[in-house]
Amino acid sequence: MKKHYLILGDTLKVIPKIKKKIDAIIVDPPYNTANKNTKKLKGRKDRSSDFGKWDYFKDEDFLIFTKDWIQATSPLLKESGNLVIFCKLEYISDIKRIYENLGFKHHATIIWHKTNPAPQIRKTGFLSSAEAVLWATKGFDNKKISYTFNFLGQREMHNFIETPICMGKERTKHPTQKPKKILSHFIKIFTNENDLILDCFAGSGTVAVAAHELNRSSISVENDKVFFKIMSDRLKKLENANLIKFRNLKDIKI
Ligand SMILES: C[S@@+](CC[C@H](N)C(=O)[O-])C[C@H]1O[C@@H](n2cnc3c(N)ncnc32)[C@H](O)[C@@H]1O
Repeated sequence: MKKHYLILGDTLKVIPKIKKKIDAIIVDPPYNTANKNTKKLKGRKDRSSDFGKWDYFKDEDFLIFTKDWIQATSPLLKESGNLVIFCKLEYISDIKRIYENLGFKHHATIIWHKTNPAPQIRKTGFLSSAEAVLWATKGFDNKKISYTFNFLGQREMHNFIETPICMGKERTKHPTQKPKKILSHFIKIFTNENDLILDCFAGSGTVAVAAHELNRSSISVENDKVFFKIMSDRLKKLENANLIKFRNLKDIKI
């Protein structure tokens, strides 16, 4: 039975409590997008990217926060482990520079193309239909591959992936839920069966759901009580999943 740890709390406080070594960190952290793109349209509902307080930063604070969580999680990652980070296109080089300065080796930037983005009602710019996924490793040896990397097949290994944004039965009330298909793709490539994956910005728990279906275990950290409940309810429906929940920092034993 796969174990899935669900932790309610601030990642920066939770991570130092974790003792287990992790095979991959796969995260969809705050993007620093909120509130910047709300469009007031006369006679129509606002088109808003205001996802909530968790996504508000001043640019420099966002980069400090990014450095802080990568630095905090880095000691947990095994030498063979992978770091996979979703981000908006504008931050690719900033985030890459942050983890390179912390000793990570950058390997690739993968583009996720959303086939059903919100339309451009006023037709004054481009649709926002692409996001980036950055891949880095800790262990790197020029002579042999020292990290987990499962090459799936030539057609599946483009540095470009296309899926619709999350819809239908899969969709929860989380405003920025990622499609399970995209997380499953990266989990297959960057981890092996029985591995342990850390998602320290878990939202509705998509990484944990995909990990379970692929026979991997997970640790999910989320600091919003409403999203934590959405994640818990979602994971409760998984068959043969051993869910271990921590709601207080002092109780964490992992
Ligand atoms: C982009 S969303 C993740 C969505 C997720 N991939 C999904 O499919 O549902 C980022 C999440 O990180 C959470 N978060 C933001 N700052 C946090 C922090 N310091 N500690 C823990 N969680 C945090 C937010 O509440 C939000 O749910």
